[in-house]
Amino acid sequence: MDRIQIRGGNRLNGEIRISGAKNAALPLMVASLLTDEPLTLASVPHLTDISQLAEILGGLGVEITMEGNGHNEGEVGRVLKLHAKTIKSTEAPYELVRKMRASFLVIGPLIARCHQAKVSLPGGCAIGTRPVDLHLKGLEAMGAEIELSEGYVIARAPKGLHGAHILFPFVSVGATENLMMAASLAKGTTVLENAASEPEVTDLGNCLLAMGARIEGLGTRTLRIEGVDRLHGARHTVLPDRIETGTYVMAVAATGGEVELLGTRSDLISSVIPLLKDAGVGIQPTNRGLRVSRNGAHYSGIEVTTEAYPGFPTDLQAQLMALMATANGVSRITETIFENRFMHVPELLRMGADITIDHQTATVRGVGRLRGAPVMATDLRASVSLIIAALAAEGETVVNRVYHLDRGFERIEEKLSSLGADIRRIKG
Ligand code: UD1
Repeated sequence: MDRIQIRGGNRLNGEIRISGAKNAALPLMVASLLTDEPLTLASVPHLTDISQLAEILGGLGVEITMEGNGHNEGEVGRVLKLHAKTIKSTEAPYELVRKMRASFLVIGPLIARCHQAKVSLPGGCAIGTRPVDLHLKGLEAMGAEIELSEGYVIARAPKGLHGAHILFPFVSVGATENLMMAASLAKGTTVLENAASEPEVTDLGNCLLAMGARIEGLGTRTLRIEGVDRLHGARHTVLPDRIETGTYVMAVAATGGEVELLGTRSDLISSVIPLLKDAGVGIQPTNRGLRVSRNGAHYSGIEVTTEAYPGFPTDLQAQLMALMATANGVSRITETIFENRFMHVPELLRMGADITIDHQTATVRGVGRLRGAPVMATDLRASVSLIIAALAAEGETVVNRVYHLDRGFERIEEKLSSLGADIRRIKG
């Protein structure tokens, strides 16, 4: 298993390009199941989660070809053409689905187009139980008959899906995406209330509109989808990755220096910017993206609670904690989206951080400097938080089990070393 070795203490300076959003690219790829015409996606990041999903879609009959590099001057991303001319299987097997929760999104489009699906219950990051009950209840309300058997969800809708009024008890990104796709090909109108308004949901909605769907309310908490008989092909560019953006913002804040993040947008991290500015980090939009800087003055502790968009994203919580481990003063970080998302804490403690956890809240008392240590990545966002901690720490850190990192961060060692970090991958 590969490891990443970092010698901390270098400031980060220069510019890097932000990749297309993994969490938008995955549902967008799934949307190709909704039409027998090709869907072309530009700026798809080169990540193992993307290849995993490509394998699952390939098994269902989607022909996937790469049409060269992305629109970002050939630097990041790829252009993928996905063509689901005929669906040759409606089954997504355990061996593939267990590795990534987002693959469960195929169930909605498969039932909508083929009136049946058999999809394994998903796996993914070990950050809590993460059930799929909201996905299934929504599909049932739209007329699917659902049976659970030997770890699989077997769904049938012999007469096709129909519109329904669905009120989510809490916000779910995945359930909103799954049902929005299914509703696009259902008979009649579906209303999704308390729906997710994350930019990735809106990006998927915009692509569905380009494919001929009728959706109102994108970006709000109520979506109204009028089903159509068929969708057609389209070309769509994946939006920039706000989690990657926020991660590099925090990396630069932790090490000091000045970096321009190209191709991203400040509105995507609007909950993060004021928080970090108040703490003493410089962040300015530029005409090419976003400039982040910290020269001289140290940053102070903060208080934050993770929330659904536009609140502070749970996917940046671990990175923020790594940053706050060396802040001036005390921070309080409360996690409300996932019940088991403090797995990075024991690893940060190994590096000398002072963090205590009480239920959902971590109290982080800033220490002067972290020290390098061997640490272990436990999930995607936790692993990148250890990279941030290591970049700012004294001495050498080796991060083990970095396969999590490769699921979600495109060319991270390359990007960081181009900014001056002392980072290398040890193969094996
Ligand atoms: C997506 C993101 C993930 C992010 C999360 C929250 C993708 C591929 N992944 O995950 O990076 O951390 O949003 O912003 O986009 N839940 C249920 N029942 C359900 C569905 C969800 O109880 O049927 C719970 C989950 O366990 C979790 C919460 O709802 O506690 C939010 O999950 P959800 O928004 O669905 O996350 P994902 O779509 O899986």
